[in-house]
Amino acid sequence: MKLTILGGGGFRVPLVYGALLGDHADGRVTRVVLHDVDAGRLRAIARVLAERAAGVPDAPEVTATTDLEEALRGADFVFSAIRVGGLEGRADDERIALAEGVLGQETVGAGGIAFGLRTVPVAVDIARRVARLAPDAWVINFTNPAGLVTEAMSRHLGDRVIGICDSPVGLGRRVARVLGARPAEAWVDYVGLNHLGWVRGLRIAGRDELPRLLADPVLLGSFEEGRLFGADWLRSLGAIPNEYLHYYYFNREAVHAYREAGRTRGAFLRDQQAGFYAGVADPAVPALELWDRTRAEREATYMAENREAAGAGEREAEDLSGGYENVALALMRAIARDERATLILNVRNRGTLAALDGDAVIEVPCLVDAHGAHPVAVDPLPGHATGLVCAVKAVEREVLDAARSGSRAAAVKAFALHPLVDSVNVARRLVDGYTAVHPGLAYLR
Ligand code: G6P
Ligand code: MN
Repeated sequence: MKLTILGGGGFRVPLVYGALLGDHADGRVTRVVLHDVDAGRLRAIARVLAERAAGVPDAPEVTATTDLEEALRGADFVFSAIRVGGLEGRADDERIALAEGVLGQETVGAGGIAFGLRTVPVAVDIARRVARLAPDAWVINFTNPAGLVTEAMSRHLGDRVIGICDSPVGLGRRVARVLGARPAEAWVDYVGLNHLGWVRGLRIAGRDELPRLLADPVLLGSFEEGRLFGADWLRSLGAIPNEYLHYYYFNREAVHAYREAGRTRGAFLRDQQAGFYAGVADPAVPALELWDRTRAEREATYMAENREAAGAGEREAEDLSGGYENVALALMRAIARDERATLILNVRNRGTLAALDGDAVIEVPCLVDAHGAHPVAVDPLPGHATGLVCAVKAVEREVLDAARSGSRAAAVKAFALHPLVDSVNVARRLVDGYTAVHPGLAYLR
């Protein structure tokens, strides 16, 4: 089995490789090809992987290339985790949005739109090449904004592209844990879009245990989303939202906290990661150790401003590792070995949510087997959630339109229609601001 990793010089690649190292069964990945546009980053990550593989006799062989077509040819799986414009671009996205008083998070609101506008053309180009060079390959998309990018690629790859995220998994795991259940024995009733979904129930042995959680203030105060949203609001919703909904439900406080912060998340990561890649370039520096220290710091500070705005305190030790590499591995195993699994994934709607058309990519539990990921039937969302999902999907569609046509007016419309952008004039200035700094947006006319 050949796995090609796009964004192969990316910081989280050793997590994926670490998951592969634990898989010794038949049909496992035996060859990993790293692709990146930056040869220096490839060298750095290859060093970390080599140190990680030490002492594992059946470790997958690793090669690296900057030639995309060579990387894709003959791939069984393509894992895509690229960042168009790098972390400098992420920091620009945040800065320009915050200057307008709106959020610049990489997947939510103005920042997500800016990131989507420069990523979609690149993702579409990759999808076209996969369709030509590796037509039987399965593409696992982790590139953010993951739902939108998966939908862009699905127009060329159909159901062969599947989007993944670790936040619904982490949420399900936390809710199961506070209810005293093993995550594997719990059925998580979750649906929405990527970074915009709700847990509406959690069944253990056929019984919905979520009402027990919602009725118990002590239990509600004992996990991340409980502290982030507060017991009263969760009880009002009758559901547990994905952590990214904090940006919607507590938008004013989140914007305030991000404006007050000394550095935005993107700027912090830009500096932190620059230090890591420079450090690993020195052969005297133990690569795996430096990577692990950097990773721990990155995980501990994840969504720190939101937690601060909510007075939610530090992250729990068990939550520090998101586990998206395990989602990716479980997905590959289920497809390659026809091992049935249920995973929350980003796939085409096909009638699951009646308010959206069949091609809209949504995030929903799926049964996975050798034929791919099949969304399960779920109850409809309540009106307030359907409203948000439809509004954000409409924004995503404007982004896809802008990327296809190059229309600046469509880009303005995407920003202006977003529930977290409060004026058409703000949207116009955001397009001006973003096109001025991002070469990847030069196509907008
Ligand atoms: C979670 C999200 C991912 C995101 C990551 C960001 O895992 O689900 O979509 O890429 O966090 O973390 P970062 O350290 O880049 O802020
Ligand atoms: Mn995610």
